[in-house]
Amino acid sequence: MLHKKAVFFFFILAAFLVLPISSSQAQPYGYEGAQVCGMCHKTEKQGQQLKIWAESKHAQAYKTLLTAKADDIAKKKGGKKAAETPECLKCHVSGYNVDKALVGAKFKVEDGVQCETCHGPGSGYKAMNVMKNKEEAIKKGLIVHKEDKEKFCKTCHNPESPSYKDFKFDEMWKKIVHAKPKG
Ligand code: HEC
Ligand code: HEC
Ligand code: HEC
Ligand code: HEC
Repeated sequence: MLHKKAVFFFFILAAFLVLPISSSQAQPYGYEGAQVCGMCHKTEKQGQQLKIWAESKHAQAYKTLLTAKADDIAKKKGGKKAAETPECLKCHVSGYNVDKALVGAKFKVEDGVQCETCHGPGSGYKAMNVMKNKEEAIKKGLIVHKEDKEKFCKTCHNPESPSYKDFKFDEMWKKIVHAKPKG
């Protein structure tokens, strides 16, 4: 009798233990920062994504907001300093408006448009064993862009940008392509 009760109690307890764990999986993933991704994505064999990104304008997108030109644009729109204006930050950086608890120690808003701006926050997928399993990585928040590349770029490269010029996808993609070498 006592034994049955104990088993029953165990199941109740288990239900309470399991519920919070499974609901915590719905928690948003956190931002790690380009340097963390770059620990693995910097070799020639992997395709030197860190270097290609660091030399791209995306890595400068926050610094651009610190210029007099940017402040002028922001003022005309009735804002304050560009680097403090959410309507500018939303396309020029990532992670500026998320809970501090979701931002890793190495993450820097100053890194502008970075890996995780495009590939999704990486706290869930950055581990080697997850990264090596594409399906698992996608389940844990990795975003890979295949057919939707152009549409995705246009979420920022569009007329809402005060300095918008016509966005020519093929030309622009060539400037930031960071493929893994074949073979
Ligand atoms: C511990 C090492 C490591 C870290 C840290 C890491 N990656 Fe990876 N990543 C890999 C490996 C290994 C692969 C698989 C490469 C292959 O296909 O051989 C990979 C694959 C990828 C892919 C390609 C998926 C596909 O097949 O289309 C993307 C995109 C990616 N990583 C982005 C990131 C981003 C963004 C970060 C930072 C949040 C990151 N990685 C951090 C090791 C790492
Ligand atoms: C989160 C917003 C965002 C997304 C998404 C985005 N970009 Fe950008 N991109 C920017 C910003 C902001 C700049 C301007 C950076 C600067 O000059 O300070 C920029 C600049 C660039 C530049 C340099 C412009 C030039 O004339 O040389 C290229 C190239 C570029 N982006 C290509 C792309 C491509 C291709 C995609 C899609 C795969 C893409 N971007 C997606 C925000 C974004
Ligand atoms: C919808 C996304 C988006 C928003 C919102 C946005 N930008 Fe940008 N910004 C871009 C992109 C993309 C570029 C790259 C050039 C282009 O194609 O417009 C850029 C480039 C720039 C440049 C460099 C342009 C040049 O000619 O040197 C400045 C300066 C700038 N933005 C300032 C701002 C300021 C200030 C705000 C806020 C009032 C702002 N941006 C809001 C996406 C955006
Ligand atoms: C402006 C958005 C953008 C940024 C910033 C960006 N990526 Fe990507 N990345 C893409 C897109 C789009 C693809 C898909 C290319 C394809 O498969 O056609 C891609 C593909 C990849 C791949 C797969 C390459 C292959 O050939 O399999 C890896 C790995 C990767 N990115 C890692 C990174 C890392 C690491 C960073 C930062 C250092 C980064 N990316 C920054 C948009 C971006």
